[in-house]
Amino acid sequence: MSIQPRILSALRPQFRYARVALPSRSRPMSLLPQAAKAGFSSSVLHRKDQPKAAHPSKHESRPLRSGEPVAEHVKEDESKRAGLPEEPMEGPPPLYSSATSHHLDRGPIAPLAALSAHELFFLKNRTILITGGGRGLGLTIAHACLESGASVRCMDLLPEPSQPQWKLAEDLARSKGLQISYHQLDVTDQDQVHQVFSDLFATNSQETPHQPIRGLFTSAGIQIMMSALDYSTEKFRKVIDVDLTGTFLCAQAFAKEWFKRHPDMDGRAGMEGASIAMTGSMSGHIANLGIECAAYNASKAGVNQLAKNLALEWSKKGIRVNTLSPGYIRTALTAAQLEEKPELNKIWLQGSLLGRLSTPDEFRGPVLYLLSDASSFMTGSDLLVDGGHCAT
Ligand SMILES: NC(=O)c1ccc[n+]([C@@H]2O[C@H](COP(=O)([O-])OP(=O)(O)OC[C@H]3O[C@@H](n4cnc5c(N)ncnc54)[C@H](O)[C@@H]3O)[C@@H](O)[C@H]2O)c1
Repeated sequence: MSIQPRILSALRPQFRYARVALPSRSRPMSLLPQAAKAGFSSSVLHRKDQPKAAHPSKHESRPLRSGEPVAEHVKEDESKRAGLPEEPMEGPPPLYSSATSHHLDRGPIAPLAALSAHELFFLKNRTILITGGGRGLGLTIAHACLESGASVRCMDLLPEPSQPQWKLAEDLARSKGLQISYHQLDVTDQDQVHQVFSDLFATNSQETPHQPIRGLFTSAGIQIMMSALDYSTEKFRKVIDVDLTGTFLCAQAFAKEWFKRHPDMDGRAGMEGASIAMTGSMSGHIANLGIECAAYNASKAGVNQLAKNLALEWSKKGIRVNTLSPGYIRTALTAAQLEEKPELNKIWLQGSLLGRLSTPDEFRGPVLYLLSDASSFMTGSDLLVDGGHCAT
């Protein structure tokens, strides 16, 4: 029976695993049940031209001359993948003996390996600060942080946070023995920002030292839809002030307070470092069909670029900085836009590969990822979560 190339490529993962995971003589037999399940004739597995061991370390090293392709042999036999160790790791993650795995007495080299995969996403034993935490995406993320084990401090321009969501968050915090508090703050006011952040860090050190502040999620933002020709300087600056400058001021205040308390931290992953996740937008990457909002989009592009620069300055000192770029979310912000221009709904849906707008809860996973140790090697980067909008 001839095997169609298409079928072969669909089953390639089984083949690769079989080739490398088992001693060559036992391979075909061990593979039989798996191959039968996959609808394969066992004769296929005995083909003489099956490639041998694929681990790169098993190839003779060869001297390289300038201009030569480094991974030439990949063309000859695609199973020999340069640089990719294909042999599965056996057994549990490595245990750390002080003799082999400590680096200059600065702790284990891979401290996160001791955590199970799902524990990586926990925010236990820490406090997260959230701007724009009075409603919308910010308040949803406050819930998610509490669910994941963190205490939260929400800041917003609103005199009071949105109900009933705030009450639900308070109930959740109480039920888990965590803390939640609300602080009115204008993120564009540098003195106020520094005062509030300084107070929060000081109170936290005194009252909940077992839950140190280790994360900031910036969600405060405004949007003004307006033709570029009509913007007054004041209106343009207002958007840049809140969305970009406000994000910067909060990140700056956070970093100042954090570095004061952690002067000797380095870029080691997780466990003790801090993470700043800033809300950018897919609008920082594209211009949105159907709406005119040059200031907003410029501000969000600025947030993406800001994060890269802060990451450059702060990552080696212990603070990772990344952005989240959401697509359209159903919140008060978009509700106002849709009310002003109902035809937007259709235009926005056309751009979504999923054929729908998102809801704030869909960003809990991405933000928990950015704030937690799960993203320990990610900094200066952007997480685009837009239902595929920017893919076309
Ligand atoms: N809704 C969307 O489709 C969408 C898409 C991409 C990105 N975003 C971004 O997500 C973030 C949250 O937006 P949202 O949809 O939850 O909107 P939202 O209006 O519900 O929330 C924004 C919050 O920011 C607060 N805020 C505004 N100005 C402030 C200031 N000067 N100081 C402090 N707080 C201030 C508001 O009071 C509000 O609570 C924003 O940065 C927004 O640009 C939203």
